[in-house]
Amino acid sequence: MTSKLSIALAPGDGIGPEIMDATLELFKAAGVDKHADFVPVEMGAGVFAKGNSRGMTDQAIRTVEDCGILFKGPMETPKGGGGKSINVTARKLWSAYANYRVFKSLPGVDTVYSRAGMKIDMCIVRENIEDTYGAVEHRLTSDMIQCKRLISGPGSDEVHRFAWQTARKLGLKKVHCGHKANIMKMTDGMFLDRFRAASKDFPEIEAADIIVDALCMNLVVRPQEFQMVVLPNLQGDIVSDLCAGLVGGLGFAPSANIGNHIAIFEAVHGTAPDIAGRGIANPTSLILSGLMMLRHVCLLREAALIENALLATLESGVHTGDFGDKSKPAVNTKQYTHAIIERLGSGPKTVPSITVPEAAEHCHVRPPRPMGQTMIRTFKNVVTHVVGCDIYLDTPLAPVSVAEEMQRACQDTPFKLTLMSNRGTQVWPTGSVYTECVDYYRVRFELRDGVVPGSFGQARCVALMDKIAESFTVCSYELLRTFDGVKGYSLAQGQ
Ligand code: NAI
Repeated sequence: MTSKLSIALAPGDGIGPEIMDATLELFKAAGVDKHADFVPVEMGAGVFAKGNSRGMTDQAIRTVEDCGILFKGPMETPKGGGGKSINVTARKLWSAYANYRVFKSLPGVDTVYSRAGMKIDMCIVRENIEDTYGAVEHRLTSDMIQCKRLISGPGSDEVHRFAWQTARKLGLKKVHCGHKANIMKMTDGMFLDRFRAASKDFPEIEAADIIVDALCMNLVVRPQEFQMVVLPNLQGDIVSDLCAGLVGGLGFAPSANIGNHIAIFEAVHGTAPDIAGRGIANPTSLILSGLMMLRHVCLLREAALIENALLATLESGVHTGDFGDKSKPAVNTKQYTHAIIERLGSGPKTVPSITVPEAAEHCHVRPPRPMGQTMIRTFKNVVTHVVGCDIYLDTPLAPVSVAEEMQRACQDTPFKLTLMSNRGTQVWPTGSVYTECVDYYRVRFELRDGVVPGSFGQARCVALMDKIAESFTVCSYELLRTFDGVKGYSLAQGQ
């Protein structure tokens, strides 16, 4: 017999402990305790309050890493100060790179779609680590703030691989990639290229792509046309809340964060401070997230029993105060949970029941502890050549004055001034008098005619930056390089 699995448990803040108690009571009634022990860990507001800016103790980190699975309630993000969202920290710290969210119409949960007889059954796979969620932000000038958007090849590959494997497991016929590659040609362009490359190993499933704005419109108008959509982090965050709205709100949308070693299962709503402590919160999102967790560890029988009982409960009209038929009195969290427990062993009548398989052991293998941080790479032996640099300046001068100074600065160097842009729009050598400018310029220097790419490294660019820094504030600089002969930088708008 397989040994019992250990699941790290963080009830969370606000309504977290109430909905976690409800979920664990239900799990116990369904026999989950025979297979799993829940190991409490200290995470959340109480830990922040003790001055720990990560919001989790060292012991909690160790326990999650030993277990490989964390089941968590919602946690408060400290407002202001240095405290970052514990949810984001947890996903990034443990490389839980794929955020998998499932959206299904539920009986008894009234929406415009249920009223129109439209059934929704789809999922979102959102990249969970990169993009603007690196939170690499700087104030560059008095008027300009920057947030770096980082998208990597291997990071994209990991999330696409997860998405395609999941689509195959679910027997899906079509997977969409949502993106904005028409504007962000390099970052989203690569995300999309990697999606298409990954699709080649899954020929039985159709690969489609859609620009994220059109995706939002189509999700609202024709949600039944989508089975799975894969998106970069920020777009995925926004689109997944849109999808939660399609099925009745965040209270009905479960979430799993999957990595190679550690997986985190959580409710997607927050701590609901307005109703915390009153025992009236709706535990459905956490229960559904728990079902994803049970399926992740192959406890399919227990998951099916609970899901059938939950569907039967919703179908009967039992509801907490935040949803359902207002003409019927709402029940509290405990009554709602007991209503589900009473229905364990039965199933819904208006929607198909989930087939309950034979009892089986869990299939979770504790992750071996990595010896060190893993370098994930896709390219090796790429030939790169320095072909120039973009230098970013803090100056209130007009474009023509900046250009004069820059041309002087690059005399006697291998570089010539090729363009200047302001907020990404070209303002020199050509531009429009109607273009409004702010106090932040990109100044591009490229190799003079006849200078061979690769004839020198980046030191000449740094020397040019040094020279410019004698009379201007240089905020930052980016090296311009070719990678196997292909330009590794974008053109300015209007170039
Ligand atoms: P929220 O989701 O906590 O609340 C929004 C509204 O939905 C409130 O009216 C609340 O009463 C209601 N609501 C939420 N969950 C409910 C449930 N299970 N049953 C019944 N009603 C429910 O969002 P808010 O107020 O923006 O955030 C509160 C705190 O939660 C913040 O500190 C935020 O950072 C944190 N948060 C944590 C998340 C997580 O741990 N994954 C996700 C979102 C927010």
